[in-house]
Amino acid sequence: MKRALLQLVEELKRLKSTGVEAVSVSEESLASLRRRAGSFSIGGSGGDGAASAPLKPGGSSIPRDSGPAASRPHPDTAPGKLPDLAFSSGPVSSGNPGGDRPAFRVATVPQPVPFTLPDGDKRTRWEALRELVLTSEICNAHLRDGCQVVFGVGSLDADIFFVGEAPGADEEIQGEPFVGPAGQLLTRMIKGMGMEREEVYIGNIMNWRPEMPSPTGNRPPNEKEIAFCLPYLLEQIRIVQPKVVVALGLTAATGLLGLEGKPVMKQVRGAWHEAVGVPCRITYHPSYILRNGSMSAKRMVWEDLLTAMERAGLPISEKQRGYFT
Ligand code: URA
Repeated sequence: MKRALLQLVEELKRLKSTGVEAVSVSEESLASLRRRAGSFSIGGSGGDGAASAPLKPGGSSIPRDSGPAASRPHPDTAPGKLPDLAFSSGPVSSGNPGGDRPAFRVATVPQPVPFTLPDGDKRTRWEALRELVLTSEICNAHLRDGCQVVFGVGSLDADIFFVGEAPGADEEIQGEPFVGPAGQLLTRMIKGMGMEREEVYIGNIMNWRPEMPSPTGNRPPNEKEIAFCLPYLLEQIRIVQPKVVVALGLTAATGLLGLEGKPVMKQVRGAWHEAVGVPCRITYHPSYILRNGSMSAKRMVWEDLLTAMERAGLPISEKQRGYFT
């Protein structure tokens, strides 16, 4: 049951990171959850903010994180708490998660490792960076068997650079960002913009799939994971020099832009931000659209994409402008 609750908490965290600000819980489900939760709290906190207060019925907000990770008790020293999903003590061998190692341990993430790239053109620098990331011992230490480190893909001359959060199950197997259901929606969105996937650039703020207690489900990257991987993403933006960056979801936006104070989507959407000198627009993550397929959410994303296209100087047809009118 603890595992089921953990998965629920992770799902809430994931939803929150994609822009969801409220979930509906019936009184009946809530009562059942309370009964099953028994003595341990639904909460704990991942490094990236977690649901830490009881759920309320009827579309209550997913509670905001209560404070910085450093101020919270370590799970090992906080009896009765669910484990903090951020970090556990020791490194993990890249063996079968179901094998003889503990069911859930997260390899330590060190400070970002400084790197230098060779002089040369975009491709030379990009290939060197890609090689560096794909062969990084730290990135590889977090992989399940048969899975891959995931680096950005697309055109090095792209006008639009999409930034996502972290690889999921499909991505870690194929070694490419946004190839699962959310990725397929992103690909359709790109087509709607009049482009092929290969004409834009797609990267993530994190290069491996964040470890989870079970092989299923995803969680947002925590602060240390983002801090470690972010320099690689920023360097990709510097190499590509797109006209516009589009951050997909709050986790990507917060990680990329270092937004203060854990903002909600409506506070940061609809304005221009800046990512290493490139104008950046924030919109909802495609997985949010997959879950909350409301017309208004789709319209908001489409408006954001049109705004990004305008800023990038890309042609916009009447048909494209009229998709939602
Ligand atoms: N979601 C992301 O944010 N990135 C991916 O690569 C896939 C899903």
